[in-house]
Amino acid sequence: MWLRDLFLLLDLKGLLFLIFVVLLMIFFLIKKDPANFPPGPPCLPLLGNVFSIESKQPHIYLTKLANVYGNVFCIRLGRHKTVFVSGWKMVKEAIVTQADNFVERPYSPMVTRIYSGNSAGLFFSNGSVWRRQRRFAMAMLRTFGLAKSSMELRICEESCHLQKAIEREKGELFDPVPLLNNAVANIICQIVFGKRFDYSDGNFQSMLKNLTEMAYLEGSVWALLYDAFPALMKCLPGPHNDIFCNSKCLEESIRAEVERHKLDLDPNNPRDYIDAFLVEKHNRNCAQGFEDGNLVLCCLDLFLAGSETTSKTLQWGLVYLVNNRHIQDKVQAEIDAVIGLTRQPTMADKPNLPYTDAVIHEIQRIGNVVPLNGLRMAAKDTMLGGFLIPKGTSVLPNLTSVLFDKNEWDTPNTFNPEHFLDAYGKLVRRDAFLPFSAGKRACLGEGLARMELFLFFVSLFQKFDFSTLDGVGLRTEGIIGATRAPFPFKIYAKVR
Ligand code: HEM
Ligand SMILES: *[C@@H]1O[C@H](CO)[C@@H](O)[C@H](O)[C@H]1NC(C)=O
Ligand SMILES: *[C@@H]1O[C@H](CO)[C@@H](O)[C@H](O)[C@H]1NC(C)=O
Ligand SMILES: *[C@@H]1O[C@H](CO)[C@@H](O)[C@H](O)[C@H]1NC(C)=O
Repeated sequence: MWLRDLFLLLDLKGLLFLIFVVLLMIFFLIKKDPANFPPGPPCLPLLGNVFSIESKQPHIYLTKLANVYGNVFCIRLGRHKTVFVSGWKMVKEAIVTQADNFVERPYSPMVTRIYSGNSAGLFFSNGSVWRRQRRFAMAMLRTFGLAKSSMELRICEESCHLQKAIEREKGELFDPVPLLNNAVANIICQIVFGKRFDYSDGNFQSMLKNLTEMAYLEGSVWALLYDAFPALMKCLPGPHNDIFCNSKCLEESIRAEVERHKLDLDPNNPRDYIDAFLVEKHNRNCAQGFEDGNLVLCCLDLFLAGSETTSKTLQWGLVYLVNNRHIQDKVQAEIDAVIGLTRQPTMADKPNLPYTDAVIHEIQRIGNVVPLNGLRMAAKDTMLGGFLIPKGTSVLPNLTSVLFDKNEWDTPNTFNPEHFLDAYGKLVRRDAFLPFSAGKRACLGEGLARMELFLFFVSLFQKFDFSTLDGVGLRTEGIIGATRAPFPFKIYAKVR
């Protein structure tokens, strides 16, 4: 009876308002999380946990959450949910054991804007196009790099250029970062463009600046905010706009190089990745992502993923060996005994340099260059650690929590090459050593990266003693973007 009275009382406006309220309630009920969704901090509707994340130190807040909510927890930014996965056991469960369920990358407004209208390159593509492009890129890395040992020669050559550039500093205090960036980017240039650049080349230098800035901004709070509130952030000034300027500049340089390749392409004799891609494009009639726009994006990804990571690992190597003089001495003693002071190192020396190899592993572990890994997405409803991760949810398998897992490492927070040595001084593999991530979506440049790290590292310490004024220690906390970099530092390099 009362219902009819109510309707009688309401005029049309009131009725519309009532309908609106009911719809809103239904909307929120439907939007409610499923019963065993991962736990997380309470949050505001629409805004999520945006106010809880301090802009300078988001990771400190997140560490606290892992302690409260366990190895699988959820954070919201805007309406977007991200499930954080921590610890070696749970990360392995997600990206290795259930590899197929977490193999995709989620939608991101920022990525969509950078990679607009294309097949999204290598890092952010999905499905069959991703599989095809990944297989092609790996085959090309083998063809133009690893197989013919031509890459080994080129890395050794680049080491010589690097050594000469360091010698030109004449033992004065200098910043090694630009030189390392040059050397490492030149390796990718050789594979992608078929040539290296002189360290004084102006275009090359601005390209490297663009790369460094992009690697920083893509992982910063600005990128998070952009993805959470794209419509709003598009209108606001701020560093996030530089991401798009940088990527446009980079794409422009790559596109120019592609056009240059087309002029003297010999289909029977591809010189590099771009040539091979153009041939494949012709044969496949632009299917499976083999078209010009996507070629540019794949090259961009090889640069973004392949140069900053490797250079920053070498930077951390300098920082830790300057800070641990006795370890630098031990590395040099081993190199002197096995290779001597003059012969160039080769990959064949690696088995005979177990201590040096262990040091490089430990640098990768503690350097933690890709702290948060690549973001993944649940491809279908999946159980993880007893929680239901609904299809389409973003999943972040936290690599820091693996490389510093208390259950896996004796002294997780101390630089300690013994983590990778047995009682006889032989190198031991460790399951939780995941700087390149794991599973089907893991780093596709791991083989190349390891070769670069070994050859550059050994030739640097063979040739030079690195130190600071009065042995002052360098800072070991990092600047966190998409990659983790040391704070700017200067050192001496004395020819040995
Ligand atoms: C020390 C050096 C390097 C480190 C620490 C590193 C680490 C990583 C990590 C953590 C990922 C994310 C994987 C995931 O989502 O599970 C990744 C992806 C990737 N890396 Fe590397 N990487 C390094 C060097 C390289 C090099 C030299 C190249 C290229 C030649 C490269 C190319 C890529 C590509 C293309 C992807 C995307 C793979 C995909 O989504 O299928 N990386 N890397
Ligand atoms: C990743 O794990 C580390 C170590 O457990 C933690 O300090 C950090 O806050 C975590 N980051 C995120 C984003 O969850
Ligand atoms: C990956 O595929 C999903 C759908 O399966 C889509 O929502 C998402 O946008 C794709 N990711 C990117 C980066 O395009
Ligand atoms: C990127 O490089 C170009 C030169 O190619 C330079 O003009 C531009 O300022 C750089 N962008 C940023 C944001 O550093």
